[in-house]
Amino acid sequence: MTPSPHKPLLATVLGERQTRPPMWIMRQAGRYLPEYREVRAKANGFLDLCYNPDLATEVTLQPLRRFDLDAAILFSDILVIPDALGQSVRFEQGEGPILEPVTAQTIAALKPERALDHLAPVLETVSRLRATLPAEKTLIGFCGAPWTVATYMIGGRGSTDQAQARLFALREPEAFAALVDILVETSIQYLVAQFKAGADVVQLFESWALNLDEEAFTRQVIEPNRRIVAGVRAQVPNAPIIGFPRGAAGNLSRYAAETGVNALGLDYSTPLEFATQHLPSHLPVQGNLDPLRLVAGGAQMERRAQEIIAAFADRPHIFNLGHGIVPETPIAHVERLVQLAKAS
Ligand code: CP3
Repeated sequence: MTPSPHKPLLATVLGERQTRPPMWIMRQAGRYLPEYREVRAKANGFLDLCYNPDLATEVTLQPLRRFDLDAAILFSDILVIPDALGQSVRFEQGEGPILEPVTAQTIAALKPERALDHLAPVLETVSRLRATLPAEKTLIGFCGAPWTVATYMIGGRGSTDQAQARLFALREPEAFAALVDILVETSIQYLVAQFKAGADVVQLFESWALNLDEEAFTRQVIEPNRRIVAGVRAQVPNAPIIGFPRGAAGNLSRYAAETGVNALGLDYSTPLEFATQHLPSHLPVQGNLDPLRLVAGGAQMERRAQEIIAAFADRPHIFNLGHGIVPETPIAHVERLVQLAKAS
């Protein structure tokens, strides 16, 4: 057998420390890039871009043409799953996603049996990326974790406190459990299909892991993430998985220990000292520069990036932002950050 080519980012997820941290940038394809805005203007709306393998492949590769990044992340969205389940999902310019909220009654009408067929164009994009990417680049697939996706499905849009979804989980526990079961099963099938199409690693985006008490965190975040990790690995043994429970705070160690993810994405509010002292020293971590430091740029950005790299120098570390890059980000600042990480 020919040995597989060395992919520093994949190797790091699998627990191997590198001499300098590999890096990618959360939401690295997007509106801060003029070439993305140009393709986006050609597509018939955002979801069409996600389901068009020609355009989705192109925008996935755009950031790698500009910056020396170690990974490409599939261009898609976490809300393709509700769309594939038959819920109405729209993206309005300047407003973010708008969904027709599910209720205890309409959850039963979701169509998990057709979801994977609906997602076939996204899987086609993964195959094309696999065929195009240089061997040393890691291809990252992803899905939204069930709680985060459920907050949009129940609330109908993003919110700062996820109150509607949190109330729904408390008032309608059976309907909520049925929704989570559908999301867990669909996510397992979708991630397994991404691995089969050529993804090296997948990330579970649990972007709304905040605002939950410990019992809700266990039920709504840990359990569904754990079931997905186990379910994917039952079909893809040892599948490499990054978990990103944004805002998990005091629940972070438990998330890492109980879900079985290989690597832990840290948001920018996680103190470096907490991470170095309380997370197992073999556990690969990813993060965690505040995206607004990248917008502001200059000495404060460089100092903080260096502090992060130094804090994690003794363990497997993937350098990244602590949440997604924002549209206002100057490209020159991204160039500087990548240069700095590469020189570390
Ligand atoms: O490079 C990449 O990472 C691109 C792939 C990607 C997108 N969304 C493209 C996108 C990924 C991994 C996501 C994840 C995603 N989507 C999350 C989790 C990560 C996070 O930031 O917390 C969430 C919560 C969503 C849901 C979503 N999609 C929202 C709330 C919005 C509107 C806000 C925004 O950033 O515009 C989107 C739209 C979206 N997804 C855009 C992109 C490039 C912008 C839409 C456009 O071009 O009009």
